[in-house]
Amino acid sequence: MRDAPETELLAADRAGLARAAALLKGGALVAFGTETVYGLGADATDAAAVARVFAAKGRPHFNPLICHYPDADAAFAHVRADETARRLAARCWPGPLSLVLPRAPDCPVALLAGAGLDTLAVRVPAHPAALALLHAVARPVAAPSANRSGGVSPTTAAHVLDGLGGRIAAVLDSGPCPVGVESTVLDLTGERPFLLRPGGTTVEAIEALVGPVARGIPHAEAEAARTLRSPGLLVSHYAPGLPVRLDASTVGAEEALLAFGPPLAGAGAVFNLSQDGDLVEAAARLFDGLRSLDATGAARGLRRIAVMPIPDAGLGLAINDRLQRAAAPRAAVG
Ligand code: TXA
Ligand code: MG
Repeated sequence: MRDAPETELLAADRAGLARAAALLKGGALVAFGTETVYGLGADATDAAAVARVFAAKGRPHFNPLICHYPDADAAFAHVRADETARRLAARCWPGPLSLVLPRAPDCPVALLAGAGLDTLAVRVPAHPAALALLHAVARPVAAPSANRSGGVSPTTAAHVLDGLGGRIAAVLDSGPCPVGVESTVLDLTGERPFLLRPGGTTVEAIEALVGPVARGIPHAEAEAARTLRSPGLLVSHYAPGLPVRLDASTVGAEEALLAFGPPLAGAGAVFNLSQDGDLVEAAARLFDGLRSLDATGAARGLRRIAVMPIPDAGLGLAINDRLQRAAAPRAAVG
């Protein structure tokens, strides 16, 4: 007997697309072909579905995911797009270019999809099946490459099944991916466009449209400078303002408690990641929990965030990785 349900192999026809869209809307994971590589899709507004993406991939930490949209209007409803973004979108979308932009204030995308960042990578893929699927779902679809963590990006449905068969609900088979390398990731949140990952759209094409693109050294320098201020923090990730204390077995009234399972008594504020001790639910609520305790703690004058122990298994690895970064000692800012 199998210990996991069979992954459905869907044809990219009307029935297959409808089935894939229904599964995604129901919170299930569906891999689908794009012009670059196959993506492992989840409804980006559903934090639990996004958490299952990390679980299926077996990622030991949370990476921010690219959100896929059927057109630029839909994408730019969720981020703050400037003139540069609009010009690139007009000429390069649909296509293998992902733009990192500030989240819009009312952005409905789950914080976990962006790994807690204030920014979001958005893209409109150039593949008829992917676009048809995105239109049918009518929600942003978060999709990393559909491989197990550490594996190579899949460019056929068979590759996807090799790595993720039995771990995801379905694969929409739209044939081999024509581009075969991932999208170019361009950060537009700084003073000038910054190349985070080279990919299917060439830097030359981007520079012809919007001028010089920064890459390499300046970013490394910026990272080093920021790391100096907050050693141990994953630089671009959300860091709570309050200090974080891990593995708490008691809690004081001057502390906010990030609970897992039945909460410890006596905290000044409580956010429970999962009353039932469910790691997928906890992952889905992690970034909301940190932000919410940070805000409540500041409002109530609390001193720190105490975190109950979380098992180091399954998604617990990624949760603990993130919490350890949040708890790492910080140098005084001069
Ligand atoms: O071609 C592609 O981009 C494919 C298909 C499925 O669209 N997707 C893909 O996703 O390659 P993934 O998760 O394997 O790679 C996404 C990259 C990662 O390097 C991630 O760090 C970066 O994009 N990224 C995503 N959101 C980001 C953000 N808000 N800020 C900075 N980098 C971000
Ligand atoms: Mg990848």
